[in-house]
Amino acid sequence: MSNKVFIFDTTLRDGEQAPGNQLNMVEKIEVAKALEELGVDIIEAGFPISSPEDFKSVEEISKAVSRPIICGLTRAVKKDIEVAADALKFAKRARIHTGIGTSFYHINYKLKSNQDEIILRAIDAVKYAKSFVEDVEFYCEDAGRTENEYLARVVEAVIKAGATVVNIPDTTGYCLPHEYGAKIKYLIDNVSNVDRAILSTHCHNDLGMATANSISGVLNGARQVEVTMNGVGERAGNTALEEVVMAIKSHKLGIHTDIVSPKILNTSRLIQRLMKSPVQANKAIVGKNAFSHSSGIHQDGVLKMRENYEIIDPKDVGVEESSIVLTARSGRAALKHRVTLLGYELKGEELDKTYEEFLKLADKKKEINDEDLLVLVGKEIRRGDKAIQLEALQVICGKSMIPTATVSLNIKGEVKTETGLGDGPVDAAFSAVKKIFLKPITLNDFLIQGFDGGSEAFGKVNVTVECENKTYYGFGADTDIVTASVESLVDALSKILE
Ligand code: KIV
Ligand code: ZN
Repeated sequence: MSNKVFIFDTTLRDGEQAPGNQLNMVEKIEVAKALEELGVDIIEAGFPISSPEDFKSVEEISKAVSRPIICGLTRAVKKDIEVAADALKFAKRARIHTGIGTSFYHINYKLKSNQDEIILRAIDAVKYAKSFVEDVEFYCEDAGRTENEYLARVVEAVIKAGATVVNIPDTTGYCLPHEYGAKIKYLIDNVSNVDRAILSTHCHNDLGMATANSISGVLNGARQVEVTMNGVGERAGNTALEEVVMAIKSHKLGIHTDIVSPKILNTSRLIQRLMKSPVQANKAIVGKNAFSHSSGIHQDGVLKMRENYEIIDPKDVGVEESSIVLTARSGRAALKHRVTLLGYELKGEELDKTYEEFLKLADKKKEINDEDLLVLVGKEIRRGDKAIQLEALQVICGKSMIPTATVSLNIKGEVKTETGLGDGPVDAAFSAVKKIFLKPITLNDFLIQGFDGGSEAFGKVNVTVECENKTYYGFGADTDIVTASVESLVDALSKILE
């Protein structure tokens, strides 16, 4: 048995079928080209008889893409097969994917038929498709709930009729991994001509088993997996391409795919954007958090050696580097690492103080970004040599009250406290500061900015102060805007005393 596992991508057929995932033709061509670059072996481009748009898409994708096999879906119905063959006429390598329901439910309640008649219809469909193209895949719809003995009869009959690939879909996502694997093994062991075709998995994710079932199928002899990017598809979706490919790549199973894995992330993003369906943050392989570490213990472990907490090198799937998300649970090592990447060296007391400030900020903000860190580091680096330190600040204000602020400043070791009134809380705090400072000053500019716009963002304040005909600039940053304002004024006043 070959050790190559063929990747059959049905994002543009089964994936696109799901509500909200519809693409126009230009978008479909863009996706098909991206899938070709990604290295998929077969692109199921659509269901040509289902609509004139689907017909046209299969036709245009056949023209636009040259390496992968282009496949069109049909029912086991002559007209469907004729239309699919017509839509595929420009494909360099064309495949017709035809099939019929084989489970008790489908035969009795959907097709209102019987097992023998279904086998005859299956044979006819394969033979008819064979009259148009050499490569014919047959699907036994709802094979997941079809008893193995009957399934083996269908598979044997369609291979005899010329099917090159036989698809064993778990259409309803019902199977457990050991059952699905046993089904494939049963077919390998009991279908006399199984060596003349490839068995394919096609698993849906209704019980969250699609990837596990596909891998179990492959481990038992299937050599094609039908997948969609990000697992998009009907109901809970199809098997996710990225999960199967990386599971095969990460384990030594003696099998491989030809997927160019570093292109996974970009392809995933393309589908998310075009189908307007973002993946959840914790989605395996392509989720925003798939390679980010937020707990202190994990961050420390990853920094010591990536493999401590990562089984995949992020670069292998197109992620630049694993990210260390700084939160209230992050440790000193992670903070130091991040700050070093930003170009600062924090040691000893500086690191301790910055870490203290970082924890205070992280309690207010969920995640600390690089901008926040730069402010914290900047504050800490400047704090040591400032002539004036803000020791305490209390502001009282509200409707029908005169804003009142009490400020304590440490000026070269001497702590002084004053209270001031003003038009607003900042004005009141500034008047308290001016009372302490004594030297006459004029406030020329006062600029407040938020870093990331949200209510929990750091506010930064720049002031320009004039004193004895000289101009001094001050900067302050804090999650509390009044504190940031006073810090900026204190910064400027410190410079006057230096
Ligand atoms: O889930 C399924 O059974 C299918 C077939 C049409 C291949 O998508
Ligand atoms: Zn399906």
